[in-house]
Amino acid sequence: MKYKSQKVAYWFFALSMLLLSLQILYGFIMAFAHMGYDVLHQITPFNTARAVHTNLLVVWLLSGFMGAAYYIIPEEAEHELVSVKLAYVQLISLAVVGVVAIVGYHFNYWEGRKFLEIPRPLDWLVVINVLTFLGIIIMTLFKGKKRTTTSLVLTMGLVFAALLYLPGMIWFDNQTMDSFFRWWVVHLWVEGVWELIMGGILAFLLIKITGVDREVIEKWLYVIVGLTFISGILGTGHHYYYIGVGKIWIIVGGIFSTLEPLAFLGMALFAIAMYRKGEKKHPNKIALSWTLGTAIVSFVGAGLLGLAHTLPAVNMYTHGTLVTAMHGHLAFWGAYGMIVLAFISYSMPNMTGRKLYDSTAGLLAFWLSNIGMIGMTVAFGVAGVAQVYLERKVGLDFGDVQKEIQVHFVILAICATLFTTGIAYYIYEFIKYGRPNDEALETNKN
Ligand code: HEM
Ligand code: HEM
Ligand SMILES: [Fe+2]
Repeated sequence: MKYKSQKVAYWFFALSMLLLSLQILYGFIMAFAHMGYDVLHQITPFNTARAVHTNLLVVWLLSGFMGAAYYIIPEEAEHELVSVKLAYVQLISLAVVGVVAIVGYHFNYWEGRKFLEIPRPLDWLVVINVLTFLGIIIMTLFKGKKRTTTSLVLTMGLVFAALLYLPGMIWFDNQTMDSFFRWWVVHLWVEGVWELIMGGILAFLLIKITGVDREVIEKWLYVIVGLTFISGILGTGHHYYYIGVGKIWIIVGGIFSTLEPLAFLGMALFAIAMYRKGEKKHPNKIALSWTLGTAIVSFVGAGLLGLAHTLPAVNMYTHGTLVTAMHGHLAFWGAYGMIVLAFISYSMPNMTGRKLYDSTAGLLAFWLSNIGMIGMTVAFGVAGVAQVYLERKVGLDFGDVQKEIQVHFVILAICATLFTTGIAYYIYEFIKYGRPNDEALETNKN
């Protein structure tokens, strides 16, 4: 750690870990409901649990991205954050908005739009929060000595993510229009601007861990940004097949979304190539595992499993089934969950001055969570394919099919337990590192 203000990142990571734990809890509530044990129905019906699970996911990832940005920007720009106090105010307000939204969902204070359930009055608080965050980041960049490609790509991703939140706030009384713009937020986030955030964080990690020249790493970054935009923007069409818009989207969405895996393939090849080229033997091997892991698992989860149901002829059958949940889990985990955990693993020794990276708990965290998540993906996939067949080929009713596929959720719960054990080890390590401190400033320059 080179700048005192980087320590603020720690608290964003702590919030992130807390929300991840809660997200898992709601995942289990749903897994049991799917098995036929919907015991919490009166307090947390399935739809509430689902909204809480997915919204907690988005907030723990955003908190992780914000923490990473507060750590990366001072180091890249060579300047302390312009206001640490404001960053703490922003952290607290993020936590407060998150808690109010989640408690509200339990009392039906929400909008039933998947992923955008936050009621519009609360959206304005989100806007103020994100503007404060961006203000601190941009002012720091502006006052700093350097503006590197890595820091610019990261900031560009964060700014665009904020802008793309706005189409979801427009009020329509037409379902098709509402859906059309909802995807500007959901799709253009995960298959557009969040990829820039991921690319920026990945580049920073690779520069630090592999020791390969910045010039080489940043050249790759341009290629990834290019591939993301070329495929991802018109790729939005893969959500427009059946929502009531023009037929042209079937062709446009089909073609461009089929190209989307290229950006993820680019990212995986990039990480592997830099790892091979790297001469520096960085001691923090576990951070390296998470870094290479995120690049590879995101290609499988987002790229390959996205491709698996993106063609209109396939999506016609799989749309809105558990096949979507199969892809949603491994994509979110590989691309965004793992990059946040990679960054935390890299930065904790630097912020605390404690070099605890060579531990069995760290290895168990990595392997158990990944094996568990891959198992969960397979369970969702098998349940999804059975659902598609029974519901859309055989013609059974939705509820009857859900009964038929209950057994797959026993497997899901077993794999989810492995996953949760991995995450428990991760959080145990996080807690063991303790608080960040200023002594870490001199002892660790990486
Ligand atoms: C113990 C761990 C977990 C369990 C048991 C679990 C279980 C579930 C279940 C049962 C659903 C609802 C599927 C349906 O609609 O019927 C769901 C939805 C979802 N979960 Fe999880 N989950 C877990 C962890 C995670 C993690 C770590 C992530 C992301 C990194 C995640 C991302 C999602 C997403 C994106 C959805 C919505 C999928 C869609 O749009 O169809 N979950 N989860
Ligand atoms: C990290 C990147 C990605 C993440 C986190 C992600 C996550 C998700 C999630 C959560 C959904 C459900 C959304 C909803 O119903 O509201 C979804 C849907 C979908 N995704 Fe992705 N995705 C990613 C990349 C991709 C890519 C690259 C492709 C194509 C190659 C793809 C193809 C699809 C398709 C076709 C659907 C619609 C499924 C349906 O009809 O139900 N995704 N994705
Ligand atoms: Fe999409």
